[in-house]
Amino acid sequence: RLEDFDISPRTGFLPEEPPLQRLQPFYKDWEDIVCQAPALLRAEEFRTRVERLPVHPVSELQSERDWKRAYLLLSVITNAYIWGGRRPAEVLPPAVSIPFIAVSAHLELPPTATYSAMNLWNFTYLQGSDLSVVENCSILHTFTGTPDEEWFYQVSIAIEARGAIVIPVMLKALEAVREDESKTVTACLLEFANCVKESGVILERMYEKCSPEVFYHQIRPFLTGSKNMSAAGLPNGVFYAEGEGKGYWHQYNGGSNAQSSLIQFFDIILGVEHARNKNSDLISIAPGAELSFIEEMRKYMPRGHRLFLQQIASTANIHEYVRRFSINDDITMAYNLAVSKLKSLRDIHIQIVTRYIINPSQKPLRGPNDRVNIATTSSRKISKTELSGTGGTQLMLFLKQSRDETEETALRL
Ligand code: HEM
Ligand code: ALA
Repeated sequence: RLEDFDISPRTGFLPEEPPLQRLQPFYKDWEDIVCQAPALLRAEEFRTRVERLPVHPVSELQSERDWKRAYLLLSVITNAYIWGGRRPAEVLPPAVSIPFIAVSAHLELPPTATYSAMNLWNFTYLQGSDLSVVENCSILHTFTGTPDEEWFYQVSIAIEARGAIVIPVMLKALEAVREDESKTVTACLLEFANCVKESGVILERMYEKCSPEVFYHQIRPFLTGSKNMSAAGLPNGVFYAEGEGKGYWHQYNGGSNAQSSLIQFFDIILGVEHARNKNSDLISIAPGAELSFIEEMRKYMPRGHRLFLQQIASTANIHEYVRRFSINDDITMAYNLAVSKLKSLRDIHIQIVTRYIINPSQKPLRGPNDRVNIATTSSRKISKTELSGTGGTQLMLFLKQSRDETEETALRL
């Protein structure tokens, strides 16, 4: 059952009941600081406010919605603390580290601002309204207080909601493969192809309200990770201080939609394979890592979603099944259509990356209002080879490879 994996047949990887909007008064300090984060960051007062926080125990957190809310709050506090100054902060104070490590351990997620925090558990909507319409959800928290940042998350949420509908459809397709009902498989594949196409239509709406300059200079610095960040001033990562001289250095990939379970589900269903070691020089994951970047990103997903993907990966056999048919059969054409729509989705995304990262990285800042108070590479013009995604990849090489691997999955004569 999908519910066993914390997945809703209606909203997919998004919680069906909107996330909690406020913790009990015991955690008022966290709530206040996150609500005021954009203003405190602008005034360069965020860090001093965090440094005055007492250590709050996690013992008052009860329901899973409480834990998820706490994870969101501590994610915002952590990334705003690290990146909210002229240089990144190398030491995270115990008042943040101690509860964040505990909350993350409970949820089996890393203590950093992940896609789960900033997207899956950071919205609200009128129950009954169509979440796949971008305007229908509102974002609870941002780093910058800009409508552009809200829109960036809203678009991702709408895609999750639109895609959710095909999760049960494709489970039905897997069932139909077992029963050898090729007509059903074909129908499911056509519905899947249409859904992926519509996800692309939503993705293209990014341009409407998220400006590339705001995204590049103001938003993405807060999503930066702490792994391989020597150039940005974090040679060892971040020290999560736990008081009395104790603590550990931690290194994480930054927040990225590569942590979305939905797009990985699309790949797994179609049997798209992403290279492992072959591209380790393209992707700055730990040296010698056995996993592809995309598999590595599953560690940044909620436990249920991660287990679900693992299970589907071990049973999905649509690609094998369709191969038994001839190239002109309806089922093969439906399969290839689905693959081509997923490839197109990645083309749309690559175009976005060109406009939102590559282009602004080549232009100097326009005026004094484009103030950058963050010690990342975003404050200067940088060479294309130096540029990396917040997730830590050498973005264009990685994204084009991922797109090509999708295309190669198509069945040919
Ligand atoms: C990966 C940028 C929006 C889905 C990436 C990567 C970059 C990037 C640079 C490479 C991984 C990394 O190092 O972070 C952007 C930009 C966006 C945007 C600039 C908007 C301004 C989205 C949205 C989606 C999405 C809305 C939702 C469909 C993905 C996926 C990957 C990825 C699935 C993993 C690579 C793959 O599966 O091919 N993105 N992204 N991105 N992004 Fe985005
Ligand atoms: N992964 C996106 C970036 O690199 C957010 O900017």
